[in-house]
Amino acid sequence: MSAPTSLASLKAAAPVVLPSLLLCNFGHLADEVARLEAAGVRALHLDVMDGQFVPNLTYGLPIVEAVRRASDLPIDCHLMIHRPERYVRAFRDAGADVITIHAEATDDLPGTLEAIHASGAAAGVAINPGTSVAAIEPVLSACQLVLVMSVEAGFGGQAFNPVALEKLTRLRTLVSPETVLEVDGGVNAQTISRCAQAGAEWFVVGSAIFRSNDYARSVAELEQLASTSS
Ligand code: DX5
Ligand code: ZN
Repeated sequence: MSAPTSLASLKAAAPVVLPSLLLCNFGHLADEVARLEAAGVRALHLDVMDGQFVPNLTYGLPIVEAVRRASDLPIDCHLMIHRPERYVRAFRDAGADVITIHAEATDDLPGTLEAIHASGAAAGVAINPGTSVAAIEPVLSACQLVLVMSVEAGFGGQAFNPVALEKLTRLRTLVSPETVLEVDGGVNAQTISRCAQAGAEWFVVGSAIFRSNDYARSVAELEQLASTSS
């Protein structure tokens, strides 16, 4: 399955809840991935943090490779790393289908997006709550996905920042119909409907899945709430 094909079919399947594996049990990573597959998730979201662009360190290429070996689901790789242009090829080779970089993390946003396209992955751009939509307007036509952060990138379990809603609404009027709008941070049963109403199609969820015992029920409830609101 090539990246653009999986992206198009996932776009058509919206609303889609993507589990962020930040809070999963890494001692049993393959079991966690199997549990998520059994729960009916349609893609996996991996949060790569470098301790420099964000004040938290998570994991890198070996974990992406391990998830790739454990699953055929599309992998949505959210790179919270300084100068991501250094690692585009490596994350593609590790198995990423979507590679999303932060607008704040590079001096060469167009060139890095181009490198992602050239690698064969779908290209995404992410913006933190303090970054305006105007900052990424010039590169929107070069992106297949736009990720609006509803928390400051760096940690799971933070409270949803509603500034994301106005950005999603604005972006919906700016991007092409093929472009996926994704929201990440503090998305749960209380906030997902507003995100869907604002135009989000992919919803990254960490705590609201991993702090529940029943992944399938949490994912189904969230997708249901999103679909009745979009
Ligand atoms: C934050 C990450 C998120 C986050 C989601 O920097 O990008 O994916 O872990 O977790 P919750 O749903 O707990 O906010
Ligand atoms: Zn993320």
